[in-house]
Amino acid sequence: MSLRAFPLSQTRAPWRDLISSHLEKQKEYDFTVATVGYDAKQRIVPRVRTCGFRGFFPELKLHPSGQKDLDQQVEDGGNPPLFESDLLSFTSDIRMEKLRQLDSTGNSIEAMFWLKEVMVQWRIKGQAYYIGSPAAESGKESDLQAQLFKALRRKDDYHGDEKADFKKWTWDKAITKYFANHSPAMRGSFRNPPPGQPRTQQLSNPDLSLGQKVSDLHDPVARGNFRLVLILPEEVEQLDLSNGDDPRRRKWTLVGGDGDVERTGGQWQESELWP
Ligand SMILES: Cc1cc2nc3c(=O)[nH]c(=O)nc-3n(C[C@H](O)[C@H](O)[C@H](O)COP(=O)(O)O)c2cc1C
Repeated sequence: MSLRAFPLSQTRAPWRDLISSHLEKQKEYDFTVATVGYDAKQRIVPRVRTCGFRGFFPELKLHPSGQKDLDQQVEDGGNPPLFESDLLSFTSDIRMEKLRQLDSTGNSIEAMFWLKEVMVQWRIKGQAYYIGSPAAESGKESDLQAQLFKALRRKDDYHGDEKADFKKWTWDKAITKYFANHSPAMRGSFRNPPPGQPRTQQLSNPDLSLGQKVSDLHDPVARGNFRLVLILPEEVEQLDLSNGDDPRRRKWTLVGGDGDVERTGGQWQESELWP
């Protein structure tokens, strides 16, 4: 990784601390993820599903057993905690429709949280990109990773040896940490028979079956299917229903960026809307 992209002058998005404080009050971190796709008649159609929100990349607090796996199987136990970003993350399987939909319809995505504990709905619109291809294909991803890297900021409160730790930071370690964040049974789901295909279909690959447990963080079959999806927010909207007499709707829009993954230096503009 080149030092040219480091460090970024971007500042933390103004909605970041607010949404994080709301999420901290939740028991579950599931969110609704919408993409655009084509139906069998080639008409453009919306598609939604529930996904597990995995926080803002690359910060992720592992369960002790996941951390133990990372410590044992990954150099230095993973990356130094040098960076933060406003990119929302979830994980998925390359064999699932949503990733094909991102590829075929310009990476458009909308994610939505209804946080009942605080009576607030958050909608995040933007673009999503997925990373984590196996090493043999990872060359194709290096340009994308270099662009995504521009969205990372050095954490204000980082007190380590920045120069040395920057050299230790790799995408592979970052992605492996998200795989380690899954239980062995969840990791095993990436060795399931092909999601969405008829159960009657004869399976030709003997590696694939339900109910497998994976402790190897570099299991080639599971990692071949596992992907980390990163959402680059462009518009964030909060609908606050906590005061029934005075519903509030606020929107933050990223302006000044060029709207694609290469953007740098955009500014968030806030406006209050009628609910
Ligand atoms: C509570 C819950 C959490 C889920 N988390 C994820 C997830 O993190 N990633 C994912 O790809 N699918 C997740 N799923 C499954 C998806 O909702 C969906 O069924 C699957 O991803 C196939 O969607 P697709 O064909 O539109 O790609 C979850 C489902 C539920 C009910």
